[in-house]
Amino acid sequence: MRFNSLDEFLSHSKLRVEKTLNTAISENRASEILSEAMAYSAGQGGKRVRAALVYGAARACGVQGVALDPLACAVEAIHAYSLIHDDLPAMDDDALRRGKPSCHIAFDEATAILAGDALQALAFELLAQAHGAQISATQCLAMVTCLAKASGAKGMVAGQMLDMAAGHNTIDLAQLERLHELKTGALIGASVELGALSCSHVTDIQLDCLRHYAQAIGLAFQVQDDILDIESDTATLGKAQGSDVINEKSTYPALLGMAAAKERLGQLHHEAISNVQIFGEAAQPLIWLADFIVTRKH
Ligand code: IPE
Ligand code: IPE
Ligand code: MG
Ligand code: MG
Ligand code: MG
Repeated sequence: MRFNSLDEFLSHSKLRVEKTLNTAISENRASEILSEAMAYSAGQGGKRVRAALVYGAARACGVQGVALDPLACAVEAIHAYSLIHDDLPAMDDDALRRGKPSCHIAFDEATAILAGDALQALAFELLAQAHGAQISATQCLAMVTCLAKASGAKGMVAGQMLDMAAGHNTIDLAQLERLHELKTGALIGASVELGALSCSHVTDIQLDCLRHYAQAIGLAFQVQDDILDIESDTATLGKAQGSDVINEKSTYPALLGMAAAKERLGQLHHEAISNVQIFGEAAQPLIWLADFIVTRKH
């Protein structure tokens, strides 16, 4: 399949990931209310950038097809769980997510915590079952390891912990970038890496270039998120604008000012693009996604 624009690529990714995710959630119905909360938070409304990165990285390595759907679902399920927990009163205490009441507001705190827990388990269930004609059991195991590392105490959860621990204290730039790389960059990195690992003959050079691309856009994603918290509005964002300021978060604009934050974004964009040149035309979706990550308005 050929795509002529980012919009086409994102719509296609969204359609595929939401179909698979909603089917997986509706098949897991031991508790009606739990499934409802999972579908409420994970089933629709996200931009699905992480899913698109799975499909985009796979395409750069020459892989397409339905075998990628569980991989894309796995990263979106982890991401949705992280957002449910991120919005809880004990964390950012945000009442709006993806344009509607956050999970703990629409349901209750206990249900939100459990829906997040269940989405995390679902991610690994989907990924562990992803082997078949296109993906070997060995590739599958490498993917499970990759996602586990990126999600846990050496990845996203560590970043969230550092974010919480930073509290109202001012941290330095190196600490802030480390925090960003973990809380946001790790899962973005895993999305790109899962796509690459779906190719049985991916080379170390290709993996290395994709990892550098992912590192740059991962950090850029959070820098832009921090900029939007100041410059955008609640209706456009679908989440409360100004949340970082209220919570006195350490962010790029807070630490260095808006001009320096935007300059850093430009550097990271350039770094990302230059690392996928080796893939030629096949990297077009990854280039569109890098452009989108630094220019997005929500
Ligand atoms: C928001 O991620 C949380 C961050 C890591 C900054 P997204 O902006 O990708 O959220 P959705 O999935 O589109 O709602
Ligand atoms: C959240 O960062 C990162 C994760 C959920 C892991 P933020 O707290 O900045 O995300 P938003 O702005 O609430 O989406
Ligand atoms: Mg947060
Ligand atoms: Mg938040
Ligand atoms: Mg934010």
